[in-house]
Amino acid sequence: MVGYQLEMGGRLNQLRDFFTSRRLVVVSNRLPYNPSRTSGGIRYVKGSGGLVTALDPILRLSNGLWIGWDGGTGAPIKGRRVTISEPEGEGSYQLRFVDLTEKEISHYYYSFSNRTLWPLFHNFIGKSNFNSAHWKTYFKTNAYFAGTILEEANPSDIIWIQDYHLSLVPNFIRYQNPELSPYFFLHTPFPPYDTFRVLPWCKPILEGFLGSEKIGFHVKGYADNFLDCVQKILNVNVDRESGIIELEERNVKVGAHPISIDYDAFHDMALAKRVTKRVEKHRRRIGDRVIILGVDRLDYTKGIKERLLAVERFLEKHGKFRNRILFIQVAVPSRTRVDEYRIMKKEIDETIGRINGRFTGEGWPPIHYIYRSLSREELVAYYRLADIALITPGRDGMNLIAKEYIASQVDKDGVLVLSEFAGAADELTEALLVNPYDIQTVSETIYKAIRMSSREKRRRVEKMQDLGKRRDIYHWVRDFFGEIDQL
Ligand code: UDP
Ligand code: G6P
Repeated sequence: MVGYQLEMGGRLNQLRDFFTSRRLVVVSNRLPYNPSRTSGGIRYVKGSGGLVTALDPILRLSNGLWIGWDGGTGAPIKGRRVTISEPEGEGSYQLRFVDLTEKEISHYYYSFSNRTLWPLFHNFIGKSNFNSAHWKTYFKTNAYFAGTILEEANPSDIIWIQDYHLSLVPNFIRYQNPELSPYFFLHTPFPPYDTFRVLPWCKPILEGFLGSEKIGFHVKGYADNFLDCVQKILNVNVDRESGIIELEERNVKVGAHPISIDYDAFHDMALAKRVTKRVEKHRRRIGDRVIILGVDRLDYTKGIKERLLAVERFLEKHGKFRNRILFIQVAVPSRTRVDEYRIMKKEIDETIGRINGRFTGEGWPPIHYIYRSLSREELVAYYRLADIALITPGRDGMNLIAKEYIASQVDKDGVLVLSEFAGAADELTEALLVNPYDIQTVSETIYKAIRMSSREKRRRVEKMQDLGKRRDIYHWVRDFFGEIDQL
């Protein structure tokens, strides 16, 4: 453990040199800490995403600032600014709250961000909603975020804007204060030209992005789509080779930088006593059934319904595996005010009920469904427990679950079945890659995973772990900012 801390210290030190001279200001729709009311007052609970894990220590190093919305928890924040100083001795940074009205939450967050851009960027055009009132509020809310940044930031800061909710912010900032340097990272895919141009506001959205010094995407395919759209829609010169967009007054750099996880933290947690005990307890209960695991936010992009149908097909075809497999699906409630999410939840509930009704014989139902968010410890125990992870999104910017599963394979005996349409498939090439819409092949791949030899499993896991260790979340930040000086 001490060795791990030293090594971590080393990696952070490299970033420290950079961020002590320039304060990091991160801006995202959702803040990394959720205020929650307790009997002792308001407590700030850290969120679980990869972005928070990566940026939290760096913000502490640089005495930084994170600007965002509290996620609608409704806890009253006095003064709209809070210092995060726990755990003690690890530095501190500030949160600046952006208060949103009910209308902004409805039109900007639930509607334009999550019913227009989210489906469009994931290539689900049929689910995309185009409404000019929502666009107007999105525009105003982005201007409001930009206004808050202008109040807080100064030219020596590095301003790092995150994700599709805030695509207009870079240009707003540059327009009002050309001395500021906004950087941008998109955590979703970027769609091909023919999909993107369907958006009535495709032009201002692209112009919004181009206010940035640099724009990061997870994989080259998304960056290429973006360059394509800039060239064709804005008629601007693009150097594909170097990823440079040549504007009249300056250049914008575009690059592929796959986000990752705190690999060591997941690996160490999987080895921890408490997790080992949990795994043993689950195993005693489940016996020697083959455990197949799915973990997702309950989102239609994650391919949960098709995955269930593949499990059903598997049970139809391989009668001898009935009561010999257990498929555990963890679904984290998400964006529950959006109709498409509610409809999908109902469909998934019904599909699980139908399959369980069909295949529950003497023994257990084949599907165990958990509809809540798990703690990191519970999650890692499931990762370690699972013989197979079935991660089959129809489209996914990256998919950190796949990387977390690999990092947690301390026994090196798990098999990852991964959608070829997840950004993670570019790196995790030793996974069994599948087309999630091809239900027959996914079902056959489950069989292949069950039959895989221990040697082959180990070989594949080790290869993916080698890469995971090297390209962890700290590498992601270094990689993104490493090129700044060359701009
Ligand atoms: N996660 C969690 N609790 C859960 C399920 C998931 O904390 O019960 C976390 C998980 O560790 C991962 C993130 O949620 O870091 C999901 O990230 P991913 O990139 O897979 O998908 P997203 O939800 O961002 O689309
Ligand atoms: C994706 C998006 C993030 C978002 C997360 C959870 O990962 O890229 O920006 O924060 O989903 O969604 P939510 O709507 O709950 O913030």
